[in-house]
Amino acid sequence: MSQVIPVREALKLSQGEEVTVRGWVYRRRDLGDKAFVVVRDSTGIIQAVFSPSARGHDAARRVTVESSVIVSGRLRDDPRAPGGKEIQGENLEIVSLADNFPIRRDASREFLLEVRHLAVRSRKLTAVLKIRDTAFAALHEWFRTNGYYEVQAPMFVSAAVEGGATLFPVKYVDGSTVYLTQSSQFYLEALIFSLEKVYTVAPSFRAEKSRTRRHLTEYWHAEAEAAWMGLEGILKVEEELISHIVRRVLEKNHDELTFLGRDLSRLKLVEPPFPRISYDKAIEILQNKGVGIKWGDDLGADEERVLTMEFDKPFFLYGFPESVKAFYHKNDPSRPSVTLSADLLAPEGYGEIIGGGERIDKLEELVEKIKRFGLNPSDYEWYLDLRRYGSVPHAGFGLGMDRLVMWIAGLDHIVDSLPFPRTTSRTYP
Ligand code: 4AD
Ligand code: MG
Repeated sequence: MSQVIPVREALKLSQGEEVTVRGWVYRRRDLGDKAFVVVRDSTGIIQAVFSPSARGHDAARRVTVESSVIVSGRLRDDPRAPGGKEIQGENLEIVSLADNFPIRRDASREFLLEVRHLAVRSRKLTAVLKIRDTAFAALHEWFRTNGYYEVQAPMFVSAAVEGGATLFPVKYVDGSTVYLTQSSQFYLEALIFSLEKVYTVAPSFRAEKSRTRRHLTEYWHAEAEAAWMGLEGILKVEEELISHIVRRVLEKNHDELTFLGRDLSRLKLVEPPFPRISYDKAIEILQNKGVGIKWGDDLGADEERVLTMEFDKPFFLYGFPESVKAFYHKNDPSRPSVTLSADLLAPEGYGEIIGGGERIDKLEELVEKIKRFGLNPSDYEWYLDLRRYGSVPHAGFGLGMDRLVMWIAGLDHIVDSLPFPRTTSRTYP
């Protein structure tokens, strides 16, 4: 038996070369007296054909889908086989014979979620997870090469960042009620006073009541915060970062994107600068399209979808009214009814992937706004301290990594952007 090689490498060998691969049985069928076994590993799939004279013929006939196997033989060109080549099988060792695999071609979405621990083997999810891996790696790469320090913030917190409605209470060891974090932002704000530019990638939790295609209850949140930066500066960071990630995915995941049927020409357009439209203009566009919305209303997924049809690349929506954004956003000094905030919306109907902006850096202004929002300043004592000891202008943002992957991979539901999604109705497996 020759040395085991990845399927992707096996498919590069020439006719007649000896080959051994190992993996899982992706498909199996008999045709006449021949047994066909398609083997899947992390790099791809390859077909092996066993004729009755082959030593592994019997094993190839009785092996079941998803059994783990080691297959050896000689490579042969065959235009009908996946990848244009197949293995003329000699031996097939069954490492572990699989029970009857429960996933059928016509499985419902709900069933696939119920057996997610098995469904993660699908070629679709494998392709998505490879793209996701590239996206996370590219994010770290961008921050590290641009002077940001990676930091970690706690998941147990004592107060809301993004409003009480989506807080997850947890009974703590001392009997008190604490919450799962909605955002690491306040901790990143504390860390800019020493490190100046920081970022983190961590779960955030939202007790979302509504079931949508783009909401998880636990999602992966990449957040950054920078001292001495305003809205304009942070938007530059966002467009550079997103463009870098998309470029890397185009470089490394051409096969996966193609497998998923993604339109690559749309992704190639993702280069800075991104268009910007004001909230005012967005309301006007929506009203002209007959959407029932007025100035001061928040934009939901439906309104965002209409706007995304106006652009062929990601775009910023800036200047939201104070009432639709969290209390920490700085109001525009030249027009106090709106904030120095911006969301980044992905095109093709996807909508918001980033929320961010400039923070209030003056103590009185922050206390005032916390009260105006009906919140209690004493719940934010340590956060207020940051304005007492050497406060500086600063800005930051939060990027939903699952939404980013959903858009880049062209998925129609966020649950397929990560291996084990947590939604309003699912915490298993
Ligand atoms: O817009 P959000 O709520 O902003 C914040 O949390 C800020 N504190 C971030 C910051 O400035 N450091 O959330 C940021 C992003 C959204 O744009 C969205 O992509 C994602 O987080 N997000 C969700 N993703 C999946 N499921 C959910 N339930 C999400 N809620 C927000
Ligand atoms: Mg938001």
